Amino acid sequence: MSPPLIKYFIQNYFRKSAKSLIGRAFARTNPASDHRFLRIGKSFAHHAFGENRSQRPESKMLEPTMQKLATMYEKHPQRGSDGLLHELDGLTRISIEQGHLLAGLHAAIKPKISIEIGLAYGFSTLFILDAAYQTNTNCRHIAIDPYQDSMWHGIGRQAVKDVNLDGKFEFIQETSLTALTDMSKQGVKADYIYIDGAHTFDYALVDFFCSDRILNLDGLIIFDDMWMPSIQKIASFIRTNIGSYQEIPTDVKNIFCIRKKKEDERAWNHFAAF
Ligand SMILES: C[S@@+](CC[C@H](N)C(=O)[O-])C[C@H]1O[C@@H](n2cnc3c(N)ncnc32)[C@H](O)[C@@H]1O
Repeated sequence: MSPPLIKYFIQNYFRKSAKSLIGRAFARTNPASDHRFLRIGKSFAHHAFGENRSQRPESKMLEPTMQKLATMYEKHPQRGSDGLLHELDGLTRISIEQGHLLAGLHAAIKPKISIEIGLAYGFSTLFILDAAYQTNTNCRHIAIDPYQDSMWHGIGRQAVKDVNLDGKFEFIQETSLTALTDMSKQGVKADYIYIDGAHTFDYALVDFFCSDRILNLDGLIIFDDMWMPSIQKIASFIRTNIGSYQEIPTDVKNIFCIRKKKEDERAWNHFAAF
């Protein structure tokens, strides 16, 4: 794809699916929340895409973010925190569609604290932070990745700095297990958590378990990579066993999105085959 075409995709193409997820996320929670959805939907459209989209398409994403993402999707070598240029593997990324979905959710939720597990080259982080700056709320976005320097040359962190989105950004170079456990001890509470770290069944399940401990009521957990049997199995476990969460269907097939309705009230021996 040529760079202008990639920019077009980044800016325009997938807005619809992101919007419709926002619609479902806020309309389905409870019928009384419709007015909230309308408000959030309006503000989402305004902040993420500009009030008059046809006349001001350039207001949809900050120019430096869009430029940076375009070079990343184009697989141009990127600078690491070591100051050197490194090739990208071309596989470790989210789709533009998913990026818009995350940006849309961020703009709609306006979290005080959001967390993502798995920074890598920083594709998802850039979409999220761009939305955080556009909505101009007082928020912290925390990314966790134990291998940012050793595997990814610090490219994700550097990308955030390069586009001046680091004011609302924190990075923890640890496993999600230790980072989330520490946050739980510190009493941190997040409004949404995006899980895209280790993708084995047991690790992603631990990510869910630990995330639940620090997620606010009404908060969202979003799993990436629903194409993987390990993540599908976790979705199946949550659907059959964890009644305190409500699934939010999305048009993005690769995503499993759930909302925390209440604290877990299962009996100590509860188990449903899944
Ligand atoms: C698929 S990549 C994330 C891609 C990123 N979300 C993006 O859009 O560019 C998965 C990331 O999870 C990280 N990871 C692996 N095990 C982890 C763990 N235990 N805790 C946190 N992150 C982990 C990897 O280093 C890798 O950067």
